[in-house]
Amino acid sequence: MRAILPVHATAVYVGLGSNQGDRRANLERALERLAQVPGVDVLAASSFHESELVGDGPPQGAFLNGAVALRTTLPAAALLAVLKQLEVQAGRVLPAQPNHPRPLDLDLLFYGDRWIDTAALVVPHPRWHEREFVRRPLAELGLDLETLPRWQRPRVAREVGELWSVTAGWLAGGCTIGLVPTMGSLHEGHASLLRRARAECDRVVATVFVNPLQFGPGEDFAAYPRDLGGDLAVCAAAGVDLLFAPDVAQMYGDAFASHVAVGREAEGMEGALRPGHFAGVATVVARLFAMARPHRAYFGEKDAQQLAVIRRMTLDLGFPLEVVPCPIVREADGLAMSSRNVYLGDDDRRASAVLHRAMQSAAERFRRGLRDRDALLARVRAVLATEPRAAVDYVELRREGDLAELPPGDVDGGRLLVAARFSDGARPVRLLDNLSLVDRVGNQAHD
Ligand code: PAF
Repeated sequence: MRAILPVHATAVYVGLGSNQGDRRANLERALERLAQVPGVDVLAASSFHESELVGDGPPQGAFLNGAVALRTTLPAAALLAVLKQLEVQAGRVLPAQPNHPRPLDLDLLFYGDRWIDTAALVVPHPRWHEREFVRRPLAELGLDLETLPRWQRPRVAREVGELWSVTAGWLAGGCTIGLVPTMGSLHEGHASLLRRARAECDRVVATVFVNPLQFGPGEDFAAYPRDLGGDLAVCAAAGVDLLFAPDVAQMYGDAFASHVAVGREAEGMEGALRPGHFAGVATVVARLFAMARPHRAYFGEKDAQQLAVIRRMTLDLGFPLEVVPCPIVREADGLAMSSRNVYLGDDDRRASAVLHRAMQSAAERFRRGLRDRDALLARVRAVLATEPRAAVDYVELRREGDLAELPPGDVDGGRLLVAARFSDGARPVRLLDNLSLVDRVGNQAHD
């Protein structure tokens, strides 16, 4: 005799699927076994329906899907363990490879009205509403699909407290967190950082904050492009979990007084042209690290000096995280993607490709054996000089990583860095670019 479950048992819905072996028998056996689990009462099962694989995977047969309503006294984690065990009993090899054929797939769709967001389990199931093979059986079980809870991804947080409490929940649930700090106006370059974070971390936080501390007097803080609606769409497409978009008062209250002092990495190049810029960058990034507590933080290599400053700051202040550099994403003509490119007038936009062309030309000489720093720099300058629209701020060849000075004679690679101003558009634009002369295999230039 089975014990009658107490009234406080939780109502649960589980999705069922099989596309390997005798699909119907697999599902029916799973339902029988589930009904025998102590603490579980199977209330009703839907009929089974055919569906094709959703997403990319190896060629495979159609699924048979359904759903089951039950009541349970088991905690969600224990019920999840039961479902995994039933999958293994049906012949599934765990850990499962995503989108591979399987004799049995059991998804915990709803666990009462609980919202659970851990590394092992997310309920309500994050994609239930997108999948017809889940919707149809749930409707058959009498649920009103319009009123069922759904995660909003990305969730948008405006307040530090909200960012803190969401990430605290993730950390307690064993999730790794990837952070992508940005100033918004997101383009394909940012999207590549977000996708990388998505692939490498359980949860992804993107931040959009135009940080006043890193703009000097007369710079474009007020005019910096802002487009939160567009940013939200980029984040949604990249699978971001949380978009943190605070205002200045949230980030820096009235009494805010502490700043990060930066050192050698911030000297010269951008540091010389934009006094205080890197202290502002380091301060906001340190604050974001402290608030989001990521395991990894992703930055584009386009801002190579910024990357060097942030790496140094992360080590010096002891943030327990990995700074992940991500390759530059370029337009078809080689222009490095940047939020400020929208300011370029048509002629300057055409002319701006000279930055990459100039560095490529030096890289080609490097590939053919040229190792003299000054000769390589002269080559970059010579190509830049062919474009009168480009007012060059600097051309440098620095050591890879910390961007320290290299000796003039024999250089064994390094990174070329250029900055130039263009001024025929809505406002003058400074463009930065760089190119590594060293790759992982040998002395081949790449970016
Ligand atoms: O690279 C940027 O967009 C900004 O400098 C950063 C790192 C988000 C800090 O405001």
